[in-house]
Amino acid sequence: MNVLVTGGAGYIGSHTCVELLNAGHRVLVIDNLCRSNPEALNRVRKITGKELLFRRIDLLDYDPLLAALREFSPDAVVHFAALKAVGESVRMPLTYYENNLAGTLNLCRAMSAVNCKNLVFSSSCTVYGNPARVPVTEASPTQNAECPYGRTKLFVEEILRDAAAADAAWHIALLRYFNPVGAHPSGLLGEDPRGTPNNLLPYIALVAAGKLPELSVFGNDYPTPDGTCIRDYLHVVDLAKGHLAALDGLPRFAGARAWNFGTGAGVSVLEVIAAFASVSGKKIPYKIAPRRAGDVVATYADPTRAREELNWSAELPLAQMCADAWRWQTQNPDGY
Ligand code: NAD
Ligand code: UFG
Repeated sequence: MNVLVTGGAGYIGSHTCVELLNAGHRVLVIDNLCRSNPEALNRVRKITGKELLFRRIDLLDYDPLLAALREFSPDAVVHFAALKAVGESVRMPLTYYENNLAGTLNLCRAMSAVNCKNLVFSSSCTVYGNPARVPVTEASPTQNAECPYGRTKLFVEEILRDAAAADAAWHIALLRYFNPVGAHPSGLLGEDPRGTPNNLLPYIALVAAGKLPELSVFGNDYPTPDGTCIRDYLHVVDLAKGHLAALDGLPRFAGARAWNFGTGAGVSVLEVIAAFASVSGKKIPYKIAPRRAGDVVATYADPTRAREELNWSAELPLAQMCADAWRWQTQNPDGY
């Protein structure tokens, strides 16, 4: 298949390109590189030994986007391109709505123009907000998210459902990722946040490497077994493979359909710290800090639907996520 990958130079997109190329697909990445480094694309070429097409285009620029789609003639699109920083989205809501909503609308318009209506969309467990019950199934209620970023995921899901309801030619996978972590086992690809990371795993990796003095654990008085928040961490390579399963599954499902992508296991912040320390052999100094505003207390997936309908399950354990994140950190101390 010809697969267009928007945001393919980013963290999850680059790992997914590896799996797509290894499965024999022809891949075009469209990315404006606003949050990524083109070296990631070279690394994908190095890992796979395959050609990877790339056009530096902003999804907000419709004409070059349409021209690229006409030229490439995609059979399907995997749409990662979005801004994703929670705090930044609170400060710059209009930028987030424009980028994530208008970017998606432009993409769908260009896809319609070239008659490609197979779309895999990167959604998030953020659409469930602070769930009343865990694990969450796809039938769990979606809620008003805590921040503009989260709302862009909720709104785009609704837009795509409307598009699919109006035109049966659309096949749309809404993939609700839980917490993707880790890196490619080669150590060549990984998460490369700009500045001080907001997310737990990249922060721990910098503490383990001695580049940051200590981790702040945001709250240890939550109603959870050890008092810290619970998440469903999944290996980014498992997640990348899930996109192939979704592409395979698309023709079997009418309209827009949501799938949870997680392991099904809830893991606390303290458990992640212990796993990382054990795998890396490094001390992870940490202090207990106040709760982070807007944090979800506990969320993890019921991944049954993805297993039964897409034949996909996350397989790699937490120790492997930490080992691969640590290899990426040690081999690329300053990122790409
Ligand atoms: P990332 O920031 O590493 O990658 C996003 C890519 O999109 C970047 O390369 C960026 O340059 C590009 N991009 C952004 N706006 C663009 C535009 N207007 N035009 C062209 N390119 C643009 O993020 P990621 O972690 O790889 O996330 C990929 C997707 O998965 C995003 O949609 C994100 O919201 C979603 N998601 C991520 C997580 C996570 O924890 N990483 C969790 C749930 C959902
Ligand atoms: N945490 C710390 N210290 C840190 C960073 C994180 O204790 O320095 C804790 C958080 O409080 C949370 C857990 O580690 O309990 C995981 O935090 P992350 O920021 O790594 O992940 P979140 O699940 O909170 O955030 C993710 C995505 C967001 C998305 C959000 C909503 O990164 O983009 O899920 O579901 F909006």
